[in-house]
Amino acid sequence: MGDLALVNPVICGSGEHVMTAAGIRAALAAGAAGVIAKSLNESAIAARQLDIADYALVRPDNTPAAWGTSEQGLSLFCRSGLAQTTAEEWFALLAELDREAMATNRFVAASIIPAGLDAAVELAGRAGKASIRVLELNIGSPQSLEAAPGTILLESDEARLKHVVGRVRAAFGGQLWVKLPGLGTNLPELARAAREAGADAVGMVGRFMAMLPDVETLAPVLGTSAGYSGGWALPITCRWLAMTRQMAGRNTPLIGTNGARSGLDVARFMLAGASAVELTSVVLQSGFAALTDIIAELDSYLARKGLSAAELVGRAADALQTYQAQAPRPGRWRDFVPQETLG
Ligand SMILES: Cc1cc2nc3c(=O)[nH]c(=O)nc-3n(C[C@H](O)[C@H](O)[C@H](O)COP(=O)(O)O)c2cc1C
Repeated sequence: MGDLALVNPVICGSGEHVMTAAGIRAALAAGAAGVIAKSLNESAIAARQLDIADYALVRPDNTPAAWGTSEQGLSLFCRSGLAQTTAEEWFALLAELDREAMATNRFVAASIIPAGLDAAVELAGRAGKASIRVLELNIGSPQSLEAAPGTILLESDEARLKHVVGRVRAAFGGQLWVKLPGLGTNLPELARAAREAGADAVGMVGRFMAMLPDVETLAPVLGTSAGYSGGWALPITCRWLAMTRQMAGRNTPLIGTNGARSGLDVARFMLAGASAVELTSVVLQSGFAALTDIIAELDSYLARKGLSAAELVGRAADALQTYQAQAPRPGRWRDFVPQETLG
């Protein structure tokens, strides 16, 4: 990832599980190449939003499942908030944890979800002063659509994004990773803009916002809209990764996030163009040990295929064809409709 060599492609993604030093150390001990610590910003309102956070698991048939169940294939539906410490304290702690992580060639990154441009620049400057090596700038948090106005910056315009990333780039000399939203039609263009403005890598894509009626209570699950991610999101993320690789170029380091639940899912993200993958929901659902299992599964897959992780990157993306390149097969649709349709 830019100048940073990763010991493996599995990164523990940002979330409440890495909002404490203990959580960050547990992620590293589980074998993750690095950790993106819980994000913060400068807005007291955004931090207070953590106090209204709530979480639900959802089955593939859209019914809620109990927290802690070992059922497979669940999606995570939740509203989250931001870390409630000051940037000064948090960055100082993260820099210390990063120094610890360096002993095993791992990293601990700080993450910001700023409320606005000036704050982004100021937080990036503080991160640099605290000797943070890797900073992730998330300008695509889905929560911004529900949070109090002005508390979370969501940037979906290429020119504005370029401006924000350029200013943050000037304020922070380390590795700068930019995390994009999941909703939009111009994500490859946003990735290219971030890269042109100096991002070392681009993370994609943020979760989606959703609303789920419960047919038993007749009310919305959790009472509000919320961020939503599950294994079903993986192919959608893969398409964005592949399209971005085609548009922004093969030398744009991409980080896949949103939908990976297993070692084979990490391989899928890499085949679509990611050089590394951030995983969050699987850790919240199954604990840090899930990261150890995921790395082991990826290892045995690579051994079976006789490939290195780096050799996976973009293999499927580069084989992705257009509709226009398909050979016509008249009448093929007949094989896929109910018998009655054909009369
Ligand atoms: C409860 C929760 C809290 C999250 N908090 C943050 C955050 O503070 N900053 C951030 O950049 N992403 C945050 N995310 C997004 C995750 O880092 C990750 O990109 C997303 O959940 C998709 O990956 P997954 O399918 O592995 O969960 C959060 C996700 C969840 C579920």
